Amino acid sequence: MAVLRLLELAFITTCFSLTSALLRNERLRGNIMPMPVMPVIGVEDTTSYAVTSLADELPPYDTVYYFDQLIDHNDPSLGTFQQRYWHTYEFYEPGGPIILMTPGEANAAPYTGYLTNRTINGLIAQQEHGSVIIIEHRFYGLSNPYPDLTVASLRYHTIQQAIDDLEYFAKNVVLPMPNGDQVGPDKAPWILTGGSYSGALTSWTMVNKPNIFWAGYASSAVVEAIFDFWRYFEPIRQNMPQNCSADVAAVIAYVDDVFSGDNTTAINAIKDIFGLSEMIHLDDVAGSLRINLWDWQSLQPTSGAGAQFFEFCDALEVKDGENAPQAGWGLDHALSAWGSYFKDDYYPLICGDDGAEDCLGTYNASQDFWTNTDIDNDNRSWMWIVCNEVGFYQDGPPRNATVTPIVTRLVNVETFYDQRQCQMYFPEAFPDPPFPDTSDINTLYEGWDVSLDRIFFATGIRDPWREATLSAQGLNVQSTDEMPIGLSDGFHCSDLLTTTGAVDATVGKVHASALVSMSAWLKEWK
Ligand SMILES: *[C@@H]1O[C@H](CO)[C@@H](O)[C@H](O)[C@H]1NC(C)=O
Ligand SMILES: *[C@@H]1O[C@H](CO)[C@@H](O)[C@H](O)[C@H]1NC(C)=O
Ligand SMILES: *[C@@H]1O[C@H](CO)[C@@H](O)[C@H](O)[C@H]1NC(C)=O
Ligand SMILES: *[C@@H]1O[C@H](CO)[C@@H](O)[C@H](O)[C@H]1NC(C)=O
Ligand SMILES: *[C@@H]1O[C@H](CO)[C@@H](O)[C@H](O)[C@H]1NC(C)=O
Ligand SMILES: *[C@@H]1O[C@H](CO)[C@@H](O)[C@H](O)[C@H]1NC(C)=O
Repeated sequence: MAVLRLLELAFITTCFSLTSALLRNERLRGNIMPMPVMPVIGVEDTTSYAVTSLADELPPYDTVYYFDQLIDHNDPSLGTFQQRYWHTYEFYEPGGPIILMTPGEANAAPYTGYLTNRTINGLIAQQEHGSVIIIEHRFYGLSNPYPDLTVASLRYHTIQQAIDDLEYFAKNVVLPMPNGDQVGPDKAPWILTGGSYSGALTSWTMVNKPNIFWAGYASSAVVEAIFDFWRYFEPIRQNMPQNCSADVAAVIAYVDDVFSGDNTTAINAIKDIFGLSEMIHLDDVAGSLRINLWDWQSLQPTSGAGAQFFEFCDALEVKDGENAPQAGWGLDHALSAWGSYFKDDYYPLICGDDGAEDCLGTYNASQDFWTNTDIDNDNRSWMWIVCNEVGFYQDGPPRNATVTPIVTRLVNVETFYDQRQCQMYFPEAFPDPPFPDTSDINTLYEGWDVSLDRIFFATGIRDPWREATLSAQGLNVQSTDEMPIGLSDGFHCSDLLTTTGAVDATVGKVHASALVSMSAWLKEWK
């Protein structure tokens, strides 16, 4: 309980802008990997201002609409469930595009800000006189085929069903606006947008369902499913302060060395330094040190020096008011400084009053965390996709990788650390550790080989998910007029947000060129 309460507090202190735009704190409980999910943008004042000539007044942004969605696109006889969506036609004029976005793996209610011109959707809508829809992804929030998240229900939770949902919605929805039954994809240009997993879904949908969506915008789109995704930490290692990465690497090398040996005095000394003496499993202890690095995912160009990640580096690198040189202070200081920070400042933030084994341990199958099958549990629903389809295990680099690890190698696909969590969540489904066949997904939806017309891909250099996008280092996919690839200095999904374009010129440039592309593409619509 304490954990949840404190994390809520953390949400409030990571306000994305002066208004109610809350940046989701993606750090997850214990050693649970963060999801590739868009930043939350809500609306404080839900009044919707009519710019359109079609109405003087519009329903508030947070008005919920329901669509009867098929439970199983392979067997319509199973009936339908209610899929939630939000809609505005504030900028819409007849002939304009219909812009559709799902926030992906989250309850969509806090994402109504994506209806407005505080995001790329609204910028496109404003320029092109479009209407905007935010739709909740199946198995998240309150859009569930069945009233629980048991393995039996989750049978209908696949990427393909989610893609089929988008098609079926576009073809059948009657939008709550004048002539809302006259704007299907055969009559109006539809634009599919998304960020992170939902950015990938944008690409995958346009590959899988040609001729539904006329254009697309995909931010931080993790198009290539990667089983052993240790490269998640590469953009972090490359872009964090160098003294900090040097010291983190020194500590990790020492921890891995000691934890792989049998000197219990040294092992216990390390556990003690981090305040984790009571923990049973050494991989849980070393794995917990990833959590400080996961805070990188919450950074944006608008984040101040007080952001959690920078507090962490300051704790390691500022000694008696002095910054460490580029090489860091070295192991001794780094170990004790990280230890005190973790024990005294960080632990209460992530675990509250809970014991370490309870909060950070991953071996106790009786914990509610694994057994709770209530709906509206994005961690569980996302893990189902991780375990079955996309992998994306964020672990230490393999032995033969030539990088200096900033994450323990005790957490590795060879040690089954993350696969074991799949078994904890879904024991009936995975008697053995699952190895999702990512090559299936990458063949079916074309991954890095995608070649589409009229889709704009945008990524940030500092995005930890960069190495699964078309801007992965060493991939060299060419940007073309029909499939532009914009790379900014931003972080995760930075280019979805209007404010980041104002503070970071490289993001502003991505916005400008995406808007030019959209304008050109919409002129080509019949
Ligand atoms: C997912 O995990 C995080 C971290 O523990 C937690 O804050 C969040 O509430 C969880 N989501 C749900 C829906 O339980
Ligand atoms: C954003 O939209 C609002 C209407 O919701 C409008 O008043 C405002 O001028 C727009 N902002 C910009 C920068 O165009
Ligand atoms: C060293 O660390 C401090 C504090 O985090 C940071 O401000 C500074 O940029 C770092 N310097 C180098 C050379 O990495
Ligand atoms: C075990 O580790 C302790 C603390 O680091 C050290 O003092 C001791 O020499 C080590 N013992 C052996 C046998 O290496
Ligand atoms: C495992 O979790 C259950 C449920 O929270 C708890 O009652 C039990 O004490 C835990 N066992 C251990 C060994 O921590
Ligand atoms: C490292 O080993 C893995 C198999 O464990 C292999 O797939 C990969 O190609 C190797 N990489 C290098 C750089 O040798």
